[in-house]
Amino acid sequence: MSTAVNENAAGWEPLIVAFCCNWCSYAGGDMAGTSRMSYPANVKVIRVPCSSRMSPMFILRAFQRGADGVLVAGCHPGDCHYSTGNYHVRRRLSAFKRLVEFTGVEPDRFEVRWISSSEGDKFADEMADMTNKIKALGPNGKMRDARWQNIT
Ligand code: FES
Repeated sequence: MSTAVNENAAGWEPLIVAFCCNWCSYAGGDMAGTSRMSYPANVKVIRVPCSSRMSPMFILRAFQRGADGVLVAGCHPGDCHYSTGNYHVRRRLSAFKRLVEFTGVEPDRFEVRWISSSEGDKFADEMADMTNKIKALGPNGKMRDARWQNIT
């Protein structure tokens, strides 16, 4: 198995996948964009209907396909469009974080954040913070499937 392209490239940049709920966090990203706030291009946003839609398998698959960091963002507790979805995901993903560690991936590569639709500044800050944190950790080579190494 060859080593990942990202690891060998000069000026390596991390790939971060952000799963954002439609009603708050994704709208927060829209707010950041319409307010002309910038955040790192390292972040690829995937819209999900609610943070509770997140299966741990989505996160493992993202790591497997080359993500260096994964962020799940949803409505603030109490604000979920589907009432209690984010309470469920908070419980589920806090347990999942231990599984991430078990797989050999540093648990800090995975985060859950609450961002409302009016918090464009927070969205931009969280994306920048996550990018800086993953840059400090370096490339994630632990789980990456060789078949997906050239996808960034
Ligand atoms: Fe945003 Fe449920 S709709 S977390």
